[in-house]
Amino acid sequence: RTTLRALAQPTGLRIGTAINTDELGSNARYDRIAARQFSSVTPENVMKWDAVEPQRGQFDYADADELIRFAKKNHQLVRGHTLVWYNQLPQWLVELGPSLTKKQATAILKQHVIDEVTHFKGRIWQWDVVNEAFEEDGTLRNSLWLQKIGPSYIEKAFRWAHEADPKALLFYNDYNIEYGGPKQDAAYALVKGLKKKGVPIDGVGFQTHLDTQYGIPDLETTMKKFAKLGLKTAETEVDVRTTLPVTPVEQSAQNAGYSETLQACLLVKACISYTVWGFGDEYSWIPGVFPGEGAADLYDENLVAKPQYTALQTVL
Ligand code: XIL
Repeated sequence: RTTLRALAQPTGLRIGTAINTDELGSNARYDRIAARQFSSVTPENVMKWDAVEPQRGQFDYADADELIRFAKKNHQLVRGHTLVWYNQLPQWLVELGPSLTKKQATAILKQHVIDEVTHFKGRIWQWDVVNEAFEEDGTLRNSLWLQKIGPSYIEKAFRWAHEADPKALLFYNDYNIEYGGPKQDAAYALVKGLKKKGVPIDGVGFQTHLDTQYGIPDLETTMKKFAKLGLKTAETEVDVRTTLPVTPVEQSAQNAGYSETLQACLLVKACISYTVWGFGDEYSWIPGVFPGEGAADLYDENLVAKPQYTALQTVL
């Protein structure tokens, strides 16, 4: 059997992965899998605000540019991640934030979106313009942007991004919107409202960070519902974590988590990419954030393919 990207090629679906640029160019096995198995890449951290503007007015796009070169060399598309978020803001902005007026906060956010989108203009397929704007109860997250600018920061961000790169596909991206409930309803209402107003939004990203203890969401139905609004969809950060050590039952639940979410994307015409949030357990963000959990990725700590990988091959 051949690689994921080769298997998916006839379907038109892009299979992507988040890339940890610390490994690029220094870990041959990592590079080889990243290049061979995937047809799209997302920077795991290096396009976030704290990475690209560590000091006010001092930009550092070196790592992100390296990823762009890697993608080009390997005929991969790039998902830009992420322009407007409450998290991973540079320290200078965290410190400055509370004292900003609405006008100043708007100017800073606008400058950031325009600078970054302009830097990568023509090289980004999809941008996660706004990331994780909602709380679990469906209210808007009390971020610096909500506090200082109000709810309109969201539509402003899409308009600025579109102005800077009219060809990039612009996404709203969030987690736990794969499941029905107040957060999914709020995201749906948001994007419906944006479409109605003519705000340049092209798609919704379902992060799809699954955990075997919470079950597998019905992404086929959900993505079709969002697609009816005239939006594309994507699964943007798939991983399926479980409590360690992995039992045989959890292993098969993890396999099902991967295969069912990929199948959902294949069954929804609007779903244009399926991206895993890293491919090797050694580099996964899960153990650091969910203590006692892990084994969430397609390859083990030694970058040997696990049954999850075979599960994806089988669906394709
Ligand atoms: C995570 C990265 O994987 C970590 O390396 C980093 O320390 C924190 O951020 N949702 C997102 C991603 O949109 O940006 C997050 O990535 C994971 C959750």
